[in-house]
Amino acid sequence: MKAIEIRNKYLNFFKNHGHSIIPSAPVIPENDPSVLFTTAGMQPLVPYLLGQKHPSGTRLTDFQKCVRTNDIDEVGDNRHLTYFEMLGNWSLGDYFKEESIAMSYEFLTRELKIPESKISVTCFAGDEDCQKDEESYKAWKKAGIPDERIYFFGKDNNWWIAGEEGPCGPDTEMFYDTGKPKCSPDCNPSCDCGKYVEIWNNVFMEFYKDKNGYTKLSQKNVDTGLGLERMAMLLQGKETPYEIELFSPVMEKLEELQNIDNIQSRRIVAEHMRSSIMIINDGGKPSNVDRGYILRRLLRRMTRHLNKLGIDLNKLPEIIDTSIDAIKELYPELEQNRELIKNAIIEEKDKFIKTLKNGEREFEKVANRTKNSGKKVLDTEAVFNLYETYGFPPEMTEELAQEQNLEVDMTDYQKLFKEHQEKSRLGSEQKFKGGLASTGEIEIKYHTATHLLNAALKVVLGDHVHQKGSNITEERMRFDFSHDSKMTEEEKQKVENLVNEWISQKLDVTVEEMPKEDAIKSGAECMFIEKYPDIVTVYTIGTVSKELCGGPHVKNTGELGHFKIKKEEASSAGVRRIKAILE
Ligand code: ALA
Repeated sequence: MKAIEIRNKYLNFFKNHGHSIIPSAPVIPENDPSVLFTTAGMQPLVPYLLGQKHPSGTRLTDFQKCVRTNDIDEVGDNRHLTYFEMLGNWSLGDYFKEESIAMSYEFLTRELKIPESKISVTCFAGDEDCQKDEESYKAWKKAGIPDERIYFFGKDNNWWIAGEEGPCGPDTEMFYDTGKPKCSPDCNPSCDCGKYVEIWNNVFMEFYKDKNGYTKLSQKNVDTGLGLERMAMLLQGKETPYEIELFSPVMEKLEELQNIDNIQSRRIVAEHMRSSIMIINDGGKPSNVDRGYILRRLLRRMTRHLNKLGIDLNKLPEIIDTSIDAIKELYPELEQNRELIKNAIIEEKDKFIKTLKNGEREFEKVANRTKNSGKKVLDTEAVFNLYETYGFPPEMTEELAQEQNLEVDMTDYQKLFKEHQEKSRLGSEQKFKGGLASTGEIEIKYHTATHLLNAALKVVLGDHVHQKGSNITEERMRFDFSHDSKMTEEEKQKVENLVNEWISQKLDVTVEEMPKEDAIKSGAECMFIEKYPDIVTVYTIGTVSKELCGGPHVKNTGELGHFKIKKEEASSAGVRRIKAILE
């Protein structure tokens, strides 16, 4: 059965059982900066699990686009995926264990036609926080699962929570018996040997956990999750998800293009390509922080493995197309974002390959130095340098090291990274002391206005315009810039209008940290490049301005008020000066 059929059957089945079909949230959570990506179907539903009324009722079902980043480095084996689709159904204080289990059983055996004898289940064994789950046990017995295929485990296996805090509860998990022999007489569904594959998790969320422990929620919820790719793999009798239709065309394409055979690299490319496509499709952009950094890591790891396969990187557009084509039936919106996705991937690849060869050479030197001195762990400064100068994410250096039986001390790396960040923060604060004598609210507004003015001057006068200096007081801003002739009234008016236009557009001002080199490559504007630290902060205003800058800035241009040019005059040879106010 193809993935799309499984998804359709699932949604229809639950629709027929009174559930409303709700749309998937984006993989990049909306209004939730606390998590990087949507990792489960319940995540966008947390307020409703806690008691808020959902507009679509108390029975919901959907497919959810998910990204789990905790085991990126495991991708390449036969089961880990970074991006996957989770099918789910929810009861928000509606049905509970018995009905949930009865529906799951019916769906597996009647709709997917999985023989009952292939299904084993696990239930919560009970502890000081919550009693043994007899109710689920009875429901399974009633559905038709015999005692010998019902197992009980503790919190390690049969308790589910997203992270450290939030709604949670005991769960019951369903396993598919692949028919492989038991690895030992004690082999059971909690064993990792591959005989039992987990296919569905029904969580009975009636608790809330915080630092002080567990409390009861106001309602008893059900939250379930079924991994689409894994189910397709089992129903198609495949050993890995890379053999199902969502991946096989890409795997074949890579095999056709490769000069060096390496199945692990093909899997990594196919997986990271798909994950990157889905993240970019939902608005992700490569960068050096948070989500952007994960995307960058995925794309750089993919590029390195394309190289390992000896694939000509000019073939990337074809590979992206093949990858999109393989999944566009599931995600038709990919079609309209196809060019944007391709451009983003290719742009990041281009950035990376410029330094990849040199970086690999540098890595070899570091590796040899380590081996020659009889050590196993790479020097952390060297790992940092590989990141800063060559854009090697430390996880990638770690992977390269492992290929040679060497190691990276990631804890030490994080420590060093923080130290550098702190230094660069202090550095940029220092630097802007001159321009920003004190940074009260008004000065901060003027500061953001200088970025808008700088951008507007470029639009009106041309790209030769660069900031030569600025000075801000509570009363006004002064801005010096390169340009050799007096501005006409019309030019001044245009600049003023443009700045006010951007103010009225209420553009977001965002900040990120990145290596200086990357900032320059990304086209960020800066005054004196050599004066900046190696890691810089870059402020972006909507799509109109991007500048290296120590800040601070307002959060949104809507806060600035009305911009007015008071005076335009010569400052020195080839440099003009504008005085302007915000009113
Ligand atoms: N939220 C549960 C899971 O992700 C269903 O496994």
